[in-house]
Amino acid sequence: MARVIIVSNRVPIPKSRGASAGGLTVALRDLLTPGTVWFGWSGRLSADPSLQPAIVEARGVTYATIDLKAETYRGFYVGFANGTLWPLLHFRLGLMQYRQEDYDDYLSVNRLFAESLRTMLQPDDTVWAHDYHLVPFARMLRQQGFRGPLGFFLHVPFVPPSMLEALPVGRELVADLCAYDLVGFQTEEHARDFRDCAQRLLGATVRGEWVRLNGRSMRAFADPIGIDAEGFHQEAQRAENDSLVKRVAGSLAGRALAIGVDRMDYSKGLPQRFEAYGRLFERHPEHRRQVHFLQICPRSREEVDEYRKLRIELDRLTGRINGRFSEFDWTPLRYSARAAPRSTLAGLYRIGRIGLVTPLRDGMNLVAKEFVAAQSDEDPGVLVLSQFAGAAQELTEALIINPFDPDAIADAMHHALIMPAPERKERHQALKEKVFRTTAQAYCARFMDALLSIKAQSIPRV
Ligand code: G6P
Repeated sequence: MARVIIVSNRVPIPKSRGASAGGLTVALRDLLTPGTVWFGWSGRLSADPSLQPAIVEARGVTYATIDLKAETYRGFYVGFANGTLWPLLHFRLGLMQYRQEDYDDYLSVNRLFAESLRTMLQPDDTVWAHDYHLVPFARMLRQQGFRGPLGFFLHVPFVPPSMLEALPVGRELVADLCAYDLVGFQTEEHARDFRDCAQRLLGATVRGEWVRLNGRSMRAFADPIGIDAEGFHQEAQRAENDSLVKRVAGSLAGRALAIGVDRMDYSKGLPQRFEAYGRLFERHPEHRRQVHFLQICPRSREEVDEYRKLRIELDRLTGRINGRFSEFDWTPLRYSARAAPRSTLAGLYRIGRIGLVTPLRDGMNLVAKEFVAAQSDEDPGVLVLSQFAGAAQELTEALIINPFDPDAIADAMHHALIMPAPERKERHQALKEKVFRTTAQAYCARFMDALLSIKAQSIPRV
């Protein structure tokens, strides 16, 4: 039987029945049927990792994982993936660090993944790899003799040729992406940037979505990811009875809630958002005492220096804003560096008057879609959304802002706070229609259809 093999750096092995699923698990849920294999890193380091994956079966799905050596993990994950590629792909050349040794580790982890997966593969399997950790994986797997369809989805943005050129191995990465049969991006802009890179840096021939390089063709297209909108909406309705959500609602004492939920990452524009919140009270003092801003940002990638610096910066800014604007019975900014269960977040979005999603650059940003899905039709909140999140391409009825402009964010918050109910409802209906249409299910089906049709037609010549 033809099987689908999902490959990603982190493998979301279901821990317990009630545990909430992450974004990728939700996006790929339709594929998680008996027979499917999900392969990747175990999250563990060991001195002498085995090539033979450890297997966990859950609801018919095989989760296969391997350990990594501590030194190779550092170069691969802390070094090249998150110290080089992540800043580059988020337009932060100033933060990009490049070391040849890290790139070597990145290649060797990709080779290890390919060699290990090879031990489990059958000839008619279809392989779908995810995200920037696995760019060279297709080439490595082809070297292992695999001939089946190989797809890749990039969850983060891509960059234009002028920026990719800053990376000493930028051309190699583009060539490696061309070794896949199908590469999906979050937006048309990212797909176009990739095709431009292939054309300008490698001399590939581009016709529409097809790229031809060294005698073989591949397709690069936009396939925006979505959420399980109906499921999330119901979760948010149920969460109205969650005791924590009730306590938060009660603690607002009639004030409006602005909410932000982000991994603690410098791409999310958190210092600028905090700064903008302070500006709100300077520019529109009537909102003092009338609003609470709750920012939840679970800590992330603390082995990488930039992330540790961000944490210190956010602690400092929180103190500054609260020190400056607090009154004895009102704390304007509530900030938590801990994660919260998905159901609690759904409930908090639902009672939010403003959803603040202001990344400096983001592949898609599913918080924007979840905030919309969580709202009630009768009294919906307002989404303030960065023009540089992939979601802004679709969610045009949000209040779209430039995240580098704190005054613009402050004014959008003001606009959201005074927006009359009919306008809030009208914007929400338009956003809701989109979020319920471009779901996780649609994303997954579109990708698999495209990948399997490449196999069926054999790759066209361009
Ligand atoms: C982003 C990336 C994912 C990554 C996640 C968490 O969403 O696109 O690939 O898994 O962040 O980051 P982490 O480094 O903890 O896996």
